Amino acid sequence: MLGYAACDVMNKITPAAMHDPKEIIARANALSVEFGTPIAPGFEALVFKASRGIEDIYELTKVRKDGSRFPAIVSVTALRDERARVIGYLLIGTDNSARKRAEEALTAASAAQSAIIRQLNEDLEERVKERTSQLESANHELEAFSYSVSHDLRTPLRAIDGFSQVVLDRFGPQLPDDGRRYLGTIRAGAQKMGALIDDLLTFARLNRQALSKRPFDSVKLVREILDELGYPWPERHVQIRFGELPQSIGDRALLKQVWLNLLSNALKYTCKREDAVLEIGCTKVRGADAFFVRDNGIGFDMRFADKLFGVFQRFHRAEDFEGTGVGLAIVQRIINRHGGRVWAEAAVGKGAVFYFTLSEEPQS
Ligand SMILES: Nc1ncnc2c1ncn2[C@@H]1O[C@H](COP(=O)(O)OP(=O)(O)OP(=O)(O)O)[C@@H](O)[C@H]1O
Ligand SMILES: [Mg+2]
Repeated sequence: MLGYAACDVMNKITPAAMHDPKEIIARANALSVEFGTPIAPGFEALVFKASRGIEDIYELTKVRKDGSRFPAIVSVTALRDERARVIGYLLIGTDNSARKRAEEALTAASAAQSAIIRQLNEDLEERVKERTSQLESANHELEAFSYSVSHDLRTPLRAIDGFSQVVLDRFGPQLPDDGRRYLGTIRAGAQKMGALIDDLLTFARLNRQALSKRPFDSVKLVREILDELGYPWPERHVQIRFGELPQSIGDRALLKQVWLNLLSNALKYTCKREDAVLEIGCTKVRGADAFFVRDNGIGFDMRFADKLFGVFQRFHRAEDFEGTGVGLAIVQRIINRHGGRVWAEAAVGKGAVFYFTLSEEPQS
């Protein structure tokens, strides 16, 4: 393996000369530090551990007689006589080239893989940047659209409503009953459309508004909203059951809108019940806090649940329950912007419960 004949070696050179001298020096230094005793950078460095009875297998570069090199694994065993005195050493060197080559090939392959992953990431970043700028320009367009909707549409609407009123005031007595009624219907339509436009604009604005997340007291917020909604509603019989509510982390102003929309829905859709019960609480869903508002109102058919959060989606007739159908779309947008989720469970005539989380639910 090394190209030496026995006569080249016997009493002429030690095995230390058949290895890379730099590696022998490094090994001697390392052993000196490990054993706290000076070890010569020659044969002693090769056999020191074995001389102490320690099993020793290590990697070194072997040097052939013609100067060529190859990586080897060296195993050293001390040979002892019957009184355990060392009488020699058995050094077995195994050519390690094949394994080294395989290792190098593996390293090269993994470097190539890393380069591909890096390239993919760069491409992805590039694409994300591109999409973000497309999205930004779409947002600008939406803003311009919202602006023109608010100004261009509201002005003629106000004119329709206002002039209908003027006609009613000035010429009302001369008009037949039908004429007055039609004008009343025109006014109600114009006002309804104004409310729809306002809701749409609120909804569109939600995307642009920056979130300001902070911890806040959920109980205080809910009590504040109930007060604003006129709690305890002396004209109605509504029982409120409070569960425990943990602190929330999020944009308080936006989450106030969420609670307001859910609680006013619960109040609205229980208004036909003599004994309305609203339950406000929090439960754990897949490790996350899920706040909920439960009511025992009119409920809805779960087959339509996927439409619930769409803009202008309503499951009940406007004659029975007022509204524009934007409340839950606003709720969903706010919750999504917090990284959470909103969902509902209901049954016709048995009430509904709306849940929301404010962060991603850890997958268990
Ligand atoms: N607690 C509830 N019980 C029964 N149905 C509900 C409840 N909450 C919402 N819904 C149904 O979902 C629809 C959408 O609710 P959403 O709050 O978006 O609109 P809305 O209440 O009709 O109008 P608004 O925009 O004024 O809130 C409602 O029209 C109603 O049919
Ligand atoms: Mg509503």
